[in-house]
Amino acid sequence: MGAYNVNNMEQIQAIMAAAKETQSPVIIQASRGALKYSNFTYLGYLMKAAVIENPDIPVAMHLDHGNSLGSAIKAIDLGFSSVMIDGSLLEDGKTASTYDYNVKVTRSVVEYAHARGVSVEAEIGTLGGIEDGVGSGKIHLTDPKEAEKFVNETDVDSLAIAIGTSHGAYKFKGAANLAFDVLKEIRALIDIPIVLHGASSVPKELTDEVNKYGGKMPGATGVPMLNLQEAIKLGVSKINVDTDGRLAITAAIRKVFTEAPEKFDPRDYLGPARTALTNLIITKMKDFGTAGHAKDYAPKSLEDIKKLYASK
Ligand code: G3H
Ligand code: 13P
Ligand code: ZN
Repeated sequence: MGAYNVNNMEQIQAIMAAAKETQSPVIIQASRGALKYSNFTYLGYLMKAAVIENPDIPVAMHLDHGNSLGSAIKAIDLGFSSVMIDGSLLEDGKTASTYDYNVKVTRSVVEYAHARGVSVEAEIGTLGGIEDGVGSGKIHLTDPKEAEKFVNETDVDSLAIAIGTSHGAYKFKGAANLAFDVLKEIRALIDIPIVLHGASSVPKELTDEVNKYGGKMPGATGVPMLNLQEAIKLGVSKINVDTDGRLAITAAIRKVFTEAPEKFDPRDYLGPARTALTNLIITKMKDFGTAGHAKDYAPKSLEDIKKLYASK
């Protein structure tokens, strides 16, 4: 599953249009920053609108990089169906934490969320890159044995791992280099879905387009789609994409500003940005292999899932 970050109406509409076009199930996710930017309620209701407008598409509403039990509670109260607690970092979202801290905060979220039918993603190991406050800046690859212990001790539903990716548009100095051996080891030891953060591909066509219309993104690189497809084969189930969407939007808006400087109606540039994002996500949904799978999943209510957790 691709999990696509959203901050505003156009992003949500674009992703849902792509899901409809390709008949994909979809995860739309909001970071703490996105929720803060939108004053929580606005984004929560826009995400609910996506569900109402697309009754035939299974949609998960996910909190990305929750940093505390408090942030998870806020999202759950807003109606999110799943939450991430990123206990690999302290509450500041920057400082690497200890294993014990991670277990403790993750367990507290699992307890609260499962009692309400909400599933939980956790993280072990830390990604590189600092993007608006998410990330320690240093990469600590996930220790497979520690991942196994962590899953047993927390009862978490899915696990984000660190195999060399990082958030943002500058992921590698040279060629992309992912620790597939670590992924294989983890896959052999745990049986819950594995999540890959920092998985944007940063396509050259998009950064070229941004630069062509006055942007400055020299040396931006991401994870090539072939590497992501390899990761999927080796057992990654959820792939987080934010940066590529930002690039598509920025390129489209810069183009309008450059080619039609007389325009000043936001719809004249937000509309093309929305279309560009839809096209990008259509390609991702095809490449990730979710296209055509919308009907494979019967959506369950939180009440149903609550019963499921209670019976475990
Ligand atoms: O993982 C980080 C996402 O790209 C969210 O970024 O905190 O700037 O919204 P943000
Ligand atoms: P990118 O910055 O590679 O898009 O990663 C997004 C992400 O991991 C969101 O949690
Ligand atoms: Zn992330």
